[in-house]
Amino acid sequence: MSRVVEVQDDASHAGALAAAFRAWTGSPPEGVWRAPGRVNLIGEHLDYNGGHVLPFAIDRSAWVALRRHADPVLRARSRQYRDPVAIPLSELTAARGWGAHLAGVLWALGTETTGGGGVDIFVDSDVPPGGGLSSSAALECATALALADLAGAPTGSADGRRWLASVAQRAESTVVGAPIGIMDQTAVLLAQADHAMYLDTRTLEAEQVPLRPSEHGYRLLVVDTGSPHAHSTNGYAQRRRACEAAAAAIGVPGLALASRAGVEGADLPEDVRMRARHVVSEEARTRRARDALRRGRYEVLGRLMTASHRSMQHDFENSTAAMDAVVDASLAAGAAGARMTGGGWGGAAIILAPTAAVAAVTAGVEDALQAAPGAPDPVRVLETRPSAGAERVG
Ligand code: GLA
Repeated sequence: MSRVVEVQDDASHAGALAAAFRAWTGSPPEGVWRAPGRVNLIGEHLDYNGGHVLPFAIDRSAWVALRRHADPVLRARSRQYRDPVAIPLSELTAARGWGAHLAGVLWALGTETTGGGGVDIFVDSDVPPGGGLSSSAALECATALALADLAGAPTGSADGRRWLASVAQRAESTVVGAPIGIMDQTAVLLAQADHAMYLDTRTLEAEQVPLRPSEHGYRLLVVDTGSPHAHSTNGYAQRRRACEAAAAAIGVPGLALASRAGVEGADLPEDVRMRARHVVSEEARTRRARDALRRGRYEVLGRLMTASHRSMQHDFENSTAAMDAVVDASLAAGAAGARMTGGGWGGAAIILAPTAAVAAVTAGVEDALQAAPGAPDPVRVLETRPSAGAERVG
């Protein structure tokens, strides 16, 4: 197992990125910002159903160094993507590829944020792309925070952060084209170290719940199981439509507000009823998980995580064979709980393991995944810990 280590501290990372920016443009950046990826501990597919979610920020981030300028063009470079980006401000919504995340943010903020001019952005990230850890939200939120800070917007308050989350969500749903909810961006911008966030996605009220597994004899592990991206975008949109149809048939403004009896009694096609069962039972599990965390009952949290996975596997039907194999192997090797995190159809699993079982769980997961088609090579099981949200670092 490799531990997720910060490659460098914030100051030296910011310095290295600023130097790369200067080598590229000939000028220093106006600043450097960082935004983390996230894991959702439990509460899946509830954020567009008016329910509660329980995400935390991970100890991996996207970093941006940037400078505004008078040319009407967005230029960007990345340490991860070879192709540079150059998008005229008049064509922001037509952007494709990795630059669409940046273009979407600039479009959603409005080019008055940059005084009508463009911007140069140098990007670095150690959040694995396409792995279900919100690499996109990390990049979008770092960029949104940077541009808003430079424009003098109030980004320090919770309200300012919620507004930025809505900007980043609009960038993703409009320009990138994924009809997502508000969870990832809110987690990335409002997270606190050593806490998970119990977020009411209807009111955007957030309760920070202590999440310090190592003090209770547990560790959190993440593993990328491989993720067919186009597949997941289509599946996500279909599930969202099914949930909205079920809510309309039951007569609630959001499906998470329905009761179990309401779901069973409504006139719904069987597959839509199954999706609704997941949503309503997941909402109850998420509240119980919050309660378990408040009392430090990690074994209860683990059982709820596994129940959440089974609900996705059998009712929401958004899991994969590789993901199910990871969950089964984790539990067989002594994990307290395991589940898929994020939108589904692969991506990352989150595993809660007693510290003494970490080596066995890691070996079990590696064996299970190595045999699974489409799994990443090499398989990497990483320990992660709840970390701070987005911030200016240079
Ligand atoms: C993706 C979306 C989120 C949320 C999850 C499922 O991560 O970006 O808004 O809907 O899927 O819980």
